[in-house]
Parts: sequence; structure tokens; C-alpha cells
Amino acid sequence: MNIESYIRSTKDFPKPGVIFRDFTPLLANGEAFKALIDQLKERFSNKKIDVVVGIEARGFVLASALAYALGAGTVLVRKEGKLPHATHSQEYELEYGSSVLEISRDAFEKGQKILVVDDVLATGGTLGATLKLIKENFSVSIEEILFLIELDELKGRQRLPEIPIYSVFHY
Ligand code: PRP
Ligand code: HPA
Repeated sequence: MNIESYIRSTKDFPKPGVIFRDFTPLLANGEAFKALIDQLKERFSNKKIDVVVGIEARGFVLASALAYALGAGTVLVRKEGKLPHATHSQEYELEYGSSVLEISRDAFEKGQKILVVDDVLATGGTLGATLKLIKENFSVSIEEILFLIELDELKGRQRLPEIPIYSVFHY
């Protein structure tokens, strides 16, 4: 099955000149979504991942489905002010201004193997902040980073530390 054909490209969203890669049609199709998660399960099952980390909001959908398939837990990296328990916070730069990501202070146990998942790698700011949040506050092993989509021309990968990144589709 051609999973990629379920990623819809929309011109001039959210602003003129941008082509937005939208994976919601893939999520909406049961066969395509199952094929994607089955393929990712195959790819990551030998890594013995304890926890899949999902980044708000679209990263949650992929992280939770894959965590279930792998028999792993899911931890949510959320935007500021959403997590009720004590948190660690990390500010990061957006195109205009900045934002803050948070993680619960009790998110992991020492030594756990972690897979970080998001839907899109664009400039790399979001993932950079997430990696800082985890590395500076926890003693865990980040095994790999997974994106559904990598926007190659934004060169996000080059701004990130040396860590294995696997993107299913490149644009
Ligand atoms: C999008 C996307 C990634 C991030 C990638 O999230 O889901 O998390 O941007 O961009 P970057 O590599 O330049 O940081 P967004 O903040 O739009 O949030 P959403 O998933 O809640 O819509
Ligand atoms: N698609 C989805 N999310 C995004 C994109 C995109 O093309 N660019 C930045 N975030």
C-alpha cells in the first residue's frame, strides 16, 4: 500500500508560499494508519524501547499508537501550563517570538530507553528543546528520534545534536 499518497500537500497554508504537508488524511484511513504503525513497529521492535515520547499535539497521535504497538509507555511533552504535576521547562524560538515546552518531573525512571516522536521536522527548534528537556533533567538513553515527515530544505537536522534521526518521508 502507498502510505505516502495519504499525505496531502496544501499550497499557501498557513501563509503564502508555504506548502503544508498534512498527514490527517493518513490518520483518517484505517488501512493506511495501521500499515504505517505496523511498519514502524517492525523498524523499532528490536530496540527494546521503554517509553515513546510524543510532542504536542500531532506527535501525540503517532507516539501513542506506536507505544501501544511496541508495548511501551508514552510520555507527553506539552506546551506551557498544561501538565498538572511539577514540571521541567524549556523555552525555544519560533519564527515569530518564542514558546515553552514542559515535561513532568517524574516522566522517566533512571536508565530507561527512550524513542522521541513528532510528526514533522521543520527548523528543528521543537525537537532541540525537547532533547534539552530530557538530557538536562533525566538519566535516560535516547535511542533514536522518529519523524513522519522531514522538510529537508529547512535543514533542521543540521541544527540538532549528533543523534540518530529517522524520517519516514522527506520533502
Ligand atoms: C509543528 C510540528 C512540530 C513542529 C516542527 O508543531 O508538529 O512539532 O511544528 O517545527 P520546528 O521543527 O520548526 O520546530 P506546532 O507547534 O505547529 O504544533 P501542533 O502539533 O500542536 O499543531
Ligand atoms: N506540515 C505540518 N507541520 C508543519 C509543516 C508542514 O508542512 N511545517 C511546519 N510545521
